[in-house]
Amino acid sequence: MGKTVKEVRSDIPFLDTGIIYLDNAATTPTPEPVINAMLEYFHKYSANIGRGLHQTAKRATEEFESSREKIAKTIGAEPNEIAYTKNTTEGLNLLSKGLGLKQGDKVITTVLEHHSNLIPWQRLEEKEGINLEVIEDTPDAVTNPSAIEQAADEDTSLITMSSVSNSFGTKQPIMEVAEIAKDKDALFLIDAAQGVGHMPIDVEEIGCDFLVAPGHKGLLGPQGTGFMYIREDHLNEVEPLLYGGGIVRSVEEHEHELVNPPNIFDAGTPNIPGIIGLGEGANYVLDIGLEKIEKRETKLVERMLKIQEIEGVEIYGPKSAEDLGGVVSFNVNGINHHEVSSLLDELEKIATRSGNHCAQPAMSHFGLEGNVRASVHYYNKEKNIDRFVETLEDIVEELAE
Ligand code: ALA
Repeated sequence: MGKTVKEVRSDIPFLDTGIIYLDNAATTPTPEPVINAMLEYFHKYSANIGRGLHQTAKRATEEFESSREKIAKTIGAEPNEIAYTKNTTEGLNLLSKGLGLKQGDKVITTVLEHHSNLIPWQRLEEKEGINLEVIEDTPDAVTNPSAIEQAADEDTSLITMSSVSNSFGTKQPIMEVAEIAKDKDALFLIDAAQGVGHMPIDVEEIGCDFLVAPGHKGLLGPQGTGFMYIREDHLNEVEPLLYGGGIVRSVEEHEHELVNPPNIFDAGTPNIPGIIGLGEGANYVLDIGLEKIEKRETKLVERMLKIQEIEGVEIYGPKSAEDLGGVVSFNVNGINHHEVSSLLDELEKIATRSGNHCAQPAMSHFGLEGNVRASVHYYNKEKNIDRFVETLEDIVEELAE
């Protein structure tokens, strides 16, 4: 059946502080079973992985490896297609360096992207002379797939975009773009930082080549964890970012033989407790059910969208909850976004994020300096969403010009 909202809330001690936490797009609170899985590692089998032959090292290795299977289930992948990272940014950087893109190769991204899905490609443009095209045809903060189709030519090696915009919360047309990438014979990379753990995602059905995601957002894992899906046929085509201990079969003075992917991406001692916690987080959301999570978030967003009835409040993106990935972004005429966010916090302990959300080009594109972003997860309560709406009403009443 999966846990009820009440049960999930009682698993999150952080909520006992009285906070109304609507900053889930930045990071999510960690439930007890995830904390306990990490504690168990520290208390009972705190050894390194893939090295020692003692029982404790074996258990640590098994638990660390088993997280691949749990994570894979959240996106319909196979365990060997999951490489661990420390965050989404690492996955994007790794792919930007590891795909061997060179002068003449074209990469297409969009103006809506988080800086992490822009700067690594800009660096390649600067250093390797790749041709970077940034799609600006994004009405209502949703990328127009035809613009990508038009931009994609025979030199296009890679198309990359987020599945949900982190600054506007808008769901992006990844199914259509996956088809375009296939037709144009280009690789398709999805930044699913705001998607994984919030909704069902099936990489087989989408047909993408790569997908990167964090552990500490939708999957309710700890910070400092993330993963990268590499479709099986590309496993040997991606160069790791790090080389060193833990990923070799044999080394001589001038030669080495490495292990197979995905373990090849685990050089050095990785974040063992974190990855074990992430596996538990993946299990936790799978147990609730990803469809159930998406349905609930849509319901909560529908309730949040009531703020559009407040005079002076402007919401960005489509106004239907189904088109938003658990996020509502807005501004209040005449009041700075940081001030709105601070007042929500000061008055009712409501946590939102304000600013450009590490997406300056996206903001500039819409002539904005920033906005306020309220983002939910399954555990948020209707009552608290109503409190958010009422508090915003009060703020506007007090301060709007
Ligand atoms: N990438 C995170 C956000 O959008 C931190 O807030």
